[in-house]
Amino acid sequence: MNIEKIRSLFPITKKAIYLNNASKAPLNTLVQDQLQVFLNTEYGSIGNKAFYRDEIRVSLSKLLGGLPEEYALVTSTGVGVGIVAQGLDLKKGDNIVIPEREHWNNSFPWLQLEKKGVEVRFAKINEDNSIDPGAIGKLIDDKTRVVAIAAVRFNSGYRPNLSTIGKMAHKKGALFVVDVAQAAGMIPIDVEKDQIDVMAGCGFKWLLGMHGTGFLYVNKKLLIGLPRFYLACLLRTPFMINFLTMMTLENLRRVPLLTHSSVRGRQDSSCYLILVSRTFIRKR
Ligand SMILES: Cc1ncc(COP(=O)(O)O)c(C=O)c1O
Repeated sequence: MNIEKIRSLFPITKKAIYLNNASKAPLNTLVQDQLQVFLNTEYGSIGNKAFYRDEIRVSLSKLLGGLPEEYALVTSTGVGVGIVAQGLDLKKGDNIVIPEREHWNNSFPWLQLEKKGVEVRFAKINEDNSIDPGAIGKLIDDKTRVVAIAAVRFNSGYRPNLSTIGKMAHKKGALFVVDVAQAAGMIPIDVEKDQIDVMAGCGFKWLLGMHGTGFLYVNKKLLIGLPRFYLACLLRTPFMINFLTMMTLENLRRVPLLTHSSVRGRQDSSCYLILVSRTFIRKR
């Protein structure tokens, strides 16, 4: 596809000079067409579903690494980070390390935990907006549970060295959480190479989708260690449908963690983390 063809897919280019300010992608005709198919399919019938979450999870895993079943679809980056922040069983005395002037959606979910006595430590960034991994490393100690950072910073475009910072976090047993809102679809990201345990992003920037779309990656090893995650499944069996429809969200919090393997036994490995809502429940 040449540049003219690509430009023709973005009608905005006919009326304006679009300067990307890292906020939102202009909608293109391919997405618009798919949205129309989606609406027609949903509108026209009760039974037909216009898209399959599994297919999106496969695409995400091809683009960003990891396994399809390690991805959940959420509504925004902040929601993804918030699920993790609220799902971790953090206590008074624990600490979290993030850089100064991080995007609010990768800051407020962590700052919320101050109410519980969790300390949020801000690593200094340099005058030129670069981040010295050492500035993060020196704040990490035995009580650090999370190191969180954006793969591309919203205010400067700076790209920190993820694997170096991830290794520092892991050395002290902390989780490495990465906000890829500005990175997914633009720069190479590989959860394994970049040492990422948890990753959240959105679909409305370089993935060229709509607001209200996002994803959360959680390495499957962590599912066992995150007792207060809301764990649900892509539902394939009547058993699970009954189980979840009977549960309120509050009850679900108290359900002992279904480990990845126990879930797998019930419904072919599609372990799925969601904020449970009946609208997600679909009988196949
Ligand atoms: C680094 C970063 N994180 C997150 C977001 C967006 O968060 P959300 O998907 O929750 O709207 C942005 C958008 O500007 C961003 O630049």
